[in-house]
Amino acid sequence: MEYQILSNKWRPQNFDQIVGHKYIIRILKNSLDLKRIHQSWLFSGIHGIGKTTIARILAKSLNCENGITSKPCRICKNCVSIEKGNFLDFIELDAASKTKVEDIKIILDSTKYPPIQGRFKIYLIDEIHMLSKNSFNALLKILEEPPKYIKFILATTHLKKIPNTIISRCLHINLPVITNKNISDYLNNQLKKENIKINKEILNVISNYAQGSLRNAINALELTLCLNKKNQIKIKNITKLLGIFDKKNILLLAINIINNDIDNILKIIDDAEQKGIQYNNIVLSLITFFHDLSIIKIMISKKKYSTDKLSKYDKIIYTLSKNILFKDIQMYCKILIQGEKYLRYAPNPKIGIEIILFQIYQYIKDTQNI
Ligand SMILES: Nc1ncnc2c1ncn2[C@@H]1O[C@H](COP(=O)(O)OP(=O)(O)O)[C@@H](O)[C@H]1O
Ligand SMILES: [Mg+2]
Ligand SMILES: [Zn+2]
Repeated sequence: MEYQILSNKWRPQNFDQIVGHKYIIRILKNSLDLKRIHQSWLFSGIHGIGKTTIARILAKSLNCENGITSKPCRICKNCVSIEKGNFLDFIELDAASKTKVEDIKIILDSTKYPPIQGRFKIYLIDEIHMLSKNSFNALLKILEEPPKYIKFILATTHLKKIPNTIISRCLHINLPVITNKNISDYLNNQLKKENIKINKEILNVISNYAQGSLRNAINALELTLCLNKKNQIKIKNITKLLGIFDKKNILLLAINIINNDIDNILKIIDDAEQKGIQYNNIVLSLITFFHDLSIIKIMISKKKYSTDKLSKYDKIIYTLSKNILFKDIQMYCKILIQGEKYLRYAPNPKIGIEIILFQIYQYIKDTQNI
């Protein structure tokens, strides 16, 4: 059989298979079952969290031959052809390639004709923020008074670029990022179904790396599975593959940050450059590290931290936590989080991360002088 990439193979075909977004899915399902159906929806959120997937399920729900339903049957002619991508009344467009007003006018002109196969003629317009001002105006006219048989589903990764007039005419649903736990649990379940064994720690590295996007996670997993024919994958190799610093290196960097040893810090950053590590990944890993350290400090202060059976790594963390104040850790996190946002404005990423680390260095120097 032809190989299908995992993100397509695993694409959910009904609402219950969607990971996360529980509350939103419940609202969508209820609105379908209660037949309280909007004329147009707008899904916003980062890439790879299910906007297109949910839109396609919605299209099936609205056009299933068994009636409007939150559980499309997936076997009637309409459901099958939507899944195959050849349903004439479900028109998927990428606004990025149709930004001009002439293009959008041709598309919107076709809303004059009622559906051929289905109950509704549905337009899914992806990356809607790419439309020109004139195109938005043309769309706005239709959104104001669309024919009863027309439904619009708009999707965007850049909500701020969408005029308010458009947003207010849609049922706007903002999809949040998927939590690390949801991502790693999902990958774990899917791999079980595929009969592939992978160590949980690797799945944690992947979910951290994915930054809330399930598609990122699935693609990273796909690469990881190609690392070794027998799936005996080592953490060391996967961190190298994804361009992230492994746990040991992050620990080393964190120790040097806490000790304010700027020479060593700069050496580690140089070393990262040699290894082709992506700098924003280092910043994100440091944020996670200091967050974990905060939790340990809280647990210790509440006497809920057990020191029996600590691994070598955890012992080092435990000792480290005793040598640093909670308020200082929060300051490092603040500098790192703010710095990460501005990393892309730095002349190059290496200068960017060094500036962030200089700020922590200066903060520690200042507090030591008080
Ligand atoms: N919430 C989710 N639940 C399950 N799978 C998801 C989810 N979000 C994304 N995916 C996976 O990632 C792939 C891409 O998702 P997609 O809906 O196209 O993302 P978006 O349109 O938000 O960029 C899907 O085929 C699916 O495998
Ligand atoms: Mg999409
Ligand atoms: Zn059906």
